Amino acid sequence: GKGGYEHYMLKEIESQPTSLTNTIKGRVSPESGSVDLDALTPETISEFREVQFVACGTSYHAALYGSTLLNEAGVRARAYRASEYQMGSDPVTDETLVVAVTQSGETADTLGAMRRASRGGATVLAVTNVMGSSAARAADETVYIHAGPEIGVAATKTFSSQTVTLGLLAHRLSEHMGGEDRGEPLDLALDALADLPDDLGRMLDGSDAERITNRYLGSDAYFFIGRGLGYPVAKESALKFKEITYEHAEGFASGELKHGPLALVTPRTPVFAVFTGEHDEKTLKNAKEAQTRGADVVAVAEEGHPAVDATDAHLPIPDTAPQWAGLLANVQLQLVSYHAANELGRSIDKPRNLAKSVTVE
Ligand code: M6R
Repeated sequence: GKGGYEHYMLKEIESQPTSLTNTIKGRVSPESGSVDLDALTPETISEFREVQFVACGTSYHAALYGSTLLNEAGVRARAYRASEYQMGSDPVTDETLVVAVTQSGETADTLGAMRRASRGGATVLAVTNVMGSSAARAADETVYIHAGPEIGVAATKTFSSQTVTLGLLAHRLSEHMGGEDRGEPLDLALDALADLPDDLGRMLDGSDAERITNRYLGSDAYFFIGRGLGYPVAKESALKFKEITYEHAEGFASGELKHGPLALVTPRTPVFAVFTGEHDEKTLKNAKEAQTRGADVVAVAEEGHPAVDATDAHLPIPDTAPQWAGLLANVQLQLVSYHAANELGRSIDKPRNLAKSVTVE
């Protein structure tokens, strides 16, 4: 049941300290600091030359986050939208690891991309939430995200669990297939990971997202910007916002604003800017370009961050490694979508025209 909540979506957002604990449990050995995913031996990993992710929707955004983490660790990796992968992508060989990210394990586009990868001779790894799902059965190996069942059509807790699982996978892969400069940033992220469920719990308890969201209801459109790991978060936050509020929302790479989208920015289009602790000066500059056009900027950033004084509102995230700041920012923005949709009286758990798992191409 909904456990006293009006909507599954809010219940699932608030349950993330628990679901993340389950995702992390048993994955990191405290003595050696090494990662165990019950899949892929070091010998198998050392044969891979590159990683290709295939996924749709929110899972694609998690894949983009994962491929960025891998790139930072010196591993060749790229994320594809599964529906496009079948038409054209880099060549697949028997030295390619294809990671299919799918919460349900039943998404037709993703299953199709997995078939293409297998035909090309790749090793296919499914990262899924559902035991015995079609993706788990079709894959050579499977890693479960252990987020627990997700009922709301909007993917929330599964995005966080996917992101963490892909971070662990990135760590494991980079140990055995990374370049010269691998290792360090992801090791840091493993230390911060242990605190992440508690950080998330504190952030949820103190969140001001409802009050800030109410200020901006009735806007013409809602924009989300970010860079690096903040970019998939901006895309994901806009997807969530449009999916459940039916309002116009877009996510942009912050540096791209001035290459076109800035023409849309007015005093009636609030801009939510994600600050992850990396590349933030540039994002702040981009946010100021929006302010110059009269838009309010809401900074999603740690307390005391230079962006806080320079912008119009602040959604705080706890102090963490840059690898996880985006995940935390995303949860604040899940709350923004939820409260906007709730205020507008939308059908939050079952938005119009959408289904929880999309079994047609
Ligand atoms: O089950 P999957 O992870 O394969 O689903 C992929 C998308 O259909 C899904 O993430 C969709 O984008 C969400 N409803 C968005 O909240």
